[in-house]
Amino acid sequence: MKIKLSSTRSCIIIIVSALWIAPHCWAQPSQAQSVVISVETAGNALVLQSDKNKDLKTIYFGKRLSDAGEYGNIPGIYRQPDDPTGIFNSAYTPSGSRNLVEPAISVTHADGNNSLDLRYLSHQVTKISDDISLLTIRLKDPIYDFEVTLYYKSWYKEDIIEQWSVLRHKEKGNVILHKFASANLYLKAESYWLRQYHGDWVKEMQPEESKLTHGIKTLDTKLGTRADLFQPPVFMVSLDRPAGEDEGTVLYGAMEWSGNFRFDLEVDPQDNLRIIAGMNNYASPYTLAPNEDFTTPPFLYTLSDKGKGAASRKLQQWARNYQIPDGKGSRLTLLNNWESTYFDFNETKLAELLKDTKKLGVDLFLLDDGWFGNKYPRNDDHAGLGDWQENKNKLPNGIASLVKEAQNDGVKFGIWIEPEMVSPKSELYEQHPDWVIKQPKRDEYYFRNQLVLDLSNPKVQDFVYGIVDGLFTKNPDLAYIKWDCNAVIYNAYSAFLKDQSHFYIDYVRGLYKVLEKIRAKYPKVPMMLCSGGGGRVDYGALKYFTEFWPSDNTDPIERIFIQWENSYFYPAITSSNHVTDWGKQPLKFRTDVAMMGKLGFDIVVSQLNPQDLEYCQNAIRTYNAVKAIIWQGDQYRLSDPVTSSIASVLYLDSAKTSGVIFNYLVNNRYDAGSKLPILLKGLDPAKKYRITEIDLYPGTQSTIGAGKVYTGDFLMNIGFNPEVHAGRTSVVLKLEAV
Ligand code: DGJ
Repeated sequence: MKIKLSSTRSCIIIIVSALWIAPHCWAQPSQAQSVVISVETAGNALVLQSDKNKDLKTIYFGKRLSDAGEYGNIPGIYRQPDDPTGIFNSAYTPSGSRNLVEPAISVTHADGNNSLDLRYLSHQVTKISDDISLLTIRLKDPIYDFEVTLYYKSWYKEDIIEQWSVLRHKEKGNVILHKFASANLYLKAESYWLRQYHGDWVKEMQPEESKLTHGIKTLDTKLGTRADLFQPPVFMVSLDRPAGEDEGTVLYGAMEWSGNFRFDLEVDPQDNLRIIAGMNNYASPYTLAPNEDFTTPPFLYTLSDKGKGAASRKLQQWARNYQIPDGKGSRLTLLNNWESTYFDFNETKLAELLKDTKKLGVDLFLLDDGWFGNKYPRNDDHAGLGDWQENKNKLPNGIASLVKEAQNDGVKFGIWIEPEMVSPKSELYEQHPDWVIKQPKRDEYYFRNQLVLDLSNPKVQDFVYGIVDGLFTKNPDLAYIKWDCNAVIYNAYSAFLKDQSHFYIDYVRGLYKVLEKIRAKYPKVPMMLCSGGGGRVDYGALKYFTEFWPSDNTDPIERIFIQWENSYFYPAITSSNHVTDWGKQPLKFRTDVAMMGKLGFDIVVSQLNPQDLEYCQNAIRTYNAVKAIIWQGDQYRLSDPVTSSIASVLYLDSAKTSGVIFNYLVNNRYDAGSKLPILLKGLDPAKKYRITEIDLYPGTQSTIGAGKVYTGDFLMNIGFNPEVHAGRTSVVLKLEAV
């Protein structure tokens, strides 16, 4: 990443500190100097300018120009209506002074005044590595001793920027922060097309695309925990027309925050798009003492002028390289017992399941919900959460004996926990009612019959950390954690906090403190982020979790769509996909869909007929042979199930020599099938590739010509027909350069 500074007077330097000029001097043009600051990545430039008034504005965000000296000419070539404020394009819009549009920040000063103005003070660039740079820009109110530092961390090769802000002051008393965005972007185009998502339990990641009209479109959540159950913290905005897979300009945005977030997308009176992203300020005015820092979580974004596919590949690559624990490493295939036993199991049953894990050929057995609670045993979802001791009836010899037994069987052992939660029927609730989030004067109100623990309280943080640490201390060979979170926050109230309006923010900060501590001690252990399905998937949480559970809906047809939409933002290695009995599709179809990520099973292995068992065993072997391509390769979405009867996805290794293509029939009306060949992407046109069908069900033959060789040029311009139709609904192909 390169960050260049040019000014109308000085030449290119790396660090600039403008003198702090007395407040009354700010408007004096003779003392002012225009400064242009550009954040350049391989493909893009985000260009800011401090004008003669020291207002810091976004003058450009788009394709990188070859001559950085020309960015300063950009504002001069637009002929849009006047901006009566002069700061519609503010890089961080203050409120209460000149501003007339949606602010990024609004405050009440120590003296009760509500106005804020922010002027450029200085900026600095730190080069972290060849790829990564950090730009910081200091802004200050000319009247009040209130400062904002904007942070832009950029990854040159991946075209990714993370942006956040730090707010601080030296006023004579506390300042109340009413709004505190992480980022305030500004784009210019003819029209703006928003792709947003909504969902619910078993209906996660449903897309909606619409043209943004003048005014403000707000996407937000107020659920506290399981915060993106209805609204995931990701979106796309295409410029001029909805971007295609390989063409069009599109911005991807994602909030790295596992609690309440808010995106405001405002088409302003000049027809430009202002995007303000951050934590949700709903019910959260935050009191900031003098000299304290208030740090917002990062907002992550990337811009692509080559459509959605390129944007996804960059984001996925960034995630694997820089964000997800062990993103370049391996993952464990597993057998989960949730759908085969629910809460009804004992040591004898688990001993059989451990043997089945080995027989199936996966790496690990994952014991799900129901293993704990004695006074209030966890035999259904009405009791026991919080009492993390093994249930003596179900597991008289404890987890330790199961871990050992698993080892004897040659498999690893993992366990489910839901440590942020408490059942009203639990010893924890009886002993620590003050640890529970509930209104002291109101009736309790439950989500899945449970309540949430108050993670703003350090004692509760220690308790939650202790659950994980205790499990690993007692069972050092425990190999996997599934961390669930099934409730939203009702009746938000903390018996610990003095200031209730800090609650939603301090809850998530408390959660992150716990996860930091866990990762400091257990950096490698794989942990699955689950939230009653996909109710908590975001890049803030994915700093700590190796994978996530996209949905409890494992009907493979639905999963194709859920996984497809998730793939715009998250790499396949993070997607835990389990083969279950949901849906009407054959076992092969269900398994193929689950292979497009991190494969697991949640079926009764002992009830599989011999052919199905043989198929599963072979499928796991096949998967083990190609999983590195799926996890680490570049993903190309070839045929969109939303607009076609065929879903087709290619994963291709970086050398462009090996690939896997998954093809499915998602609609069988009117004799649907792959009537036309599917165009491949990303290949080397000069290379020759052999295509072979893999993962066939025992006794079936492939109908594609075995061993035939095609050039990359042919496959990308004419295509290949996987011969998908009602008789072949799921086809997996291996591509190899010869
Ligand atoms: C919700 C999860 O999504 C399921 O996979 C399962 O772990 C249950 N919770 C257990 O209560």
